Amino acid sequence: MKINIAVLPGDGIGPEIIEQALNVTKAVCIKFGHELTYETALVGACAIDACGDPYPDSTHELCLKSDAVLFGAIGSPKYDNDPTARVRPEQGLLAMRKKLGLYANVRPVTVFPSLIDRSPLRTELVKDADFVCIRELTGGLYFGRPQGRSEDGNSAVDTCAYNREEIERILKLAYEYAGKRRKKLTVVDKANVLETSRLWRQIAQEMAPCYPDITTDYMFVDNAAMRLIQWPSSFDVLVTENMFGDILTDEASVITGSLGMLPSASIGSHTAVFEPIHGSYPQAAGKNIANPLATVLSAAMMFEYAFGLMEEGALIREAVAASMDAGFVTEDIALDGQKARFTSEVGEWLVSYIMG
Ligand code: IPM
Ligand code: MN
Repeated sequence: MKINIAVLPGDGIGPEIIEQALNVTKAVCIKFGHELTYETALVGACAIDACGDPYPDSTHELCLKSDAVLFGAIGSPKYDNDPTARVRPEQGLLAMRKKLGLYANVRPVTVFPSLIDRSPLRTELVKDADFVCIRELTGGLYFGRPQGRSEDGNSAVDTCAYNREEIERILKLAYEYAGKRRKKLTVVDKANVLETSRLWRQIAQEMAPCYPDITTDYMFVDNAAMRLIQWPSSFDVLVTENMFGDILTDEASVITGSLGMLPSASIGSHTAVFEPIHGSYPQAAGKNIANPLATVLSAAMMFEYAFGLMEEGALIREAVAASMDAGFVTEDIALDGQKARFTSEVGEWLVSYIMG
């Protein structure tokens, strides 16, 4: 099969983790006889430095003509510490999501047995955790208008806005996921306070009877934040608005033992993007110590979602699990007394497992 992808390493640890995910992708393509072509483009702070735009038109055009996008991370302390900067790296990621119509971000949370001891939560709580968070990605507080600062700079506004169409399409996708899994959907909102949440809940209540084999639960986001770590195995599919999903999935990564483990797929009307849920981890940039597994697992999702190549995805997951069983891991998931490996060493290990 011809596989034509755009590779957007981004900032911070992005280039290092993408290099390993790309090597794994190449290995899988060789192994299964696929013809891989790829082109790399700028996004984020590095794109601002190069041309003043965090998501240049040339990058967008490349994404549009590719079958899938493999994305690293963006963000830079230079901008984090300057709240008055007008152009920000994150705008690049948001523009990409909006322009590609990526309204759904699928974030699976699964526990790898060899990592259970890395979770700060007790084994009996995390061992059976296996859920998917479906995060709405192109609406809510991230995109609502008005957004901005008053002329004197002393007041600011962000707007949370959703319409029926946006809510229906994400709920439909979430119901489809629940239908293929354990048939339980938890709609996470703040309907006791927010009007947008009440609209979400109302529409979910209208749609629920169309999915009679699926149990629909409704949960306030504050309660969900607690339940996620108190009883993670009680969840199957969660669906929630953009910012709630952002926050809950960083929290959920604690269950798996490291933020460096969670992959995601952003899907919608144009090319899908496969991206780790973590950020650019600038403190580790250039040190070859970041965990590449979230990005490698995002590449596995890419084979499965963008190309329907399930065996290829499965082989990547198998390699990742084997690397952890062999204790060949980066410092964030190394157990006491275990030698921490470099990012590139983990990548090389995975490639030789796949080619082996
Ligand atoms: C994520 C990230 C992004 C987000 C940032 C970098 C804009 O945290 O993908 O979860 O908030 O969506
Ligand atoms: Mn996030």
